[in-house]
Amino acid sequence: MADVIRVCLIGMGRTGKEIAKILLQQEDIDLVMAVCSETSNKIGKDLGEILNTRDTGIIVDSCRNLETNIFKYKPDVAIDFSNPEGTVRNAEILAKMKVRMVIGTTGFNEIQTKKLMSIAKNNKVGIVHAPNITLGVNVLMVLTNLAASILESYDCTIVESHFKDKKDAPSGTAKKIANEVLKGMSINRDINLHDLDYTEVPIHAVRAGGIIGRHEVVLASEYDKVEIAHESFSRTAFALGALKAVRFIHDKVGFFEMNDVLDLRHVMTRYLEREAYFRKQKIYNMELQEDQLPV
Ligand SMILES: NC(=O)c1ccc[n+]([C@@H]2O[C@H](COP(=O)([O-])OP(=O)(O)OC[C@H]3O[C@@H](n4cnc5c(N)ncnc54)[C@H](OP(=O)(O)O)[C@@H]3O)[C@@H](O)[C@H]2O)c1
Repeated sequence: MADVIRVCLIGMGRTGKEIAKILLQQEDIDLVMAVCSETSNKIGKDLGEILNTRDTGIIVDSCRNLETNIFKYKPDVAIDFSNPEGTVRNAEILAKMKVRMVIGTTGFNEIQTKKLMSIAKNNKVGIVHAPNITLGVNVLMVLTNLAASILESYDCTIVESHFKDKKDAPSGTAKKIANEVLKGMSINRDINLHDLDYTEVPIHAVRAGGIIGRHEVVLASEYDKVEIAHESFSRTAFALGALKAVRFIHDKVGFFEMNDVLDLRHVMTRYLEREAYFRKQKIYNMELQEDQLPV
């Protein structure tokens, strides 16, 4: 069996709890730390009590004791689903101590995102920044880029829906989808990635009830429209994405995105190679049939 990866989980909220359940089921993962906020009523409780399962032997502790606990439990990777301020503070400590990170937290401003990049660079540590952690939503982004590059003159709108207490709006994922639209639509022009401004694409944010997460892209002309949508039914989808990211980052250095984890560019290249191969076969078969025609 491959080496076991020692994991520290930060943020014991809606998503963190789902991730904890999945981590506890993995043979190649050892969940060694569970971290909550400084004022949390979860401090000192067994993780099992928070998950409504049997005791795990993992005692939830405050982020205030992060450094001491890292010394004690020596995690290889930390998964953070807390809030932007907390994540940046935690990242500084984790990176200094060479703990790699999977950051699922969303809502960072530009300065905070740049800070995370420089933390990874200056400490020579690996970080996956994943405001869009599910496989499905990453597929939606690839499809959106492709559709926008074909339908470059169409009007585009994004609609994202989440539960009513979600703090950031629009979602980090919706902003990334908007960038994919702009990248796709500028396929025939030279543009600088830094010049992409997601606000050029209208985004409507719906905050209602318990919706886990839905993103919909609409590309419309005067005559027709294309819709591409992704919906998460369960937070397990986030947990499975986080798990993939942990396995990816545990031996890497640098700043990565889920695109790198899932390697969807490689899938696209294989798709194009297969299409070229089938096309060649078709031409070859047509030539054979022509040979059989009576002269
Ligand atoms: N990347 C994705 O695809 C994806 C998917 C889902 C959610 N998210 C993002 O993940 C984050 C959490 O989402 P959620 O729905 O789970 O929110 P949530 O239910 O509010 O959970 C956040 C948890 O973090 C804890 N916390 C706050 N500050 C902390 C700190 N400094 N250190 C450790 N824990 C801290 C909170 O307090 P207590 O410890 O006091 O309980 C709370 O339990 C949000 O930014 C959300 O947008 C991203």
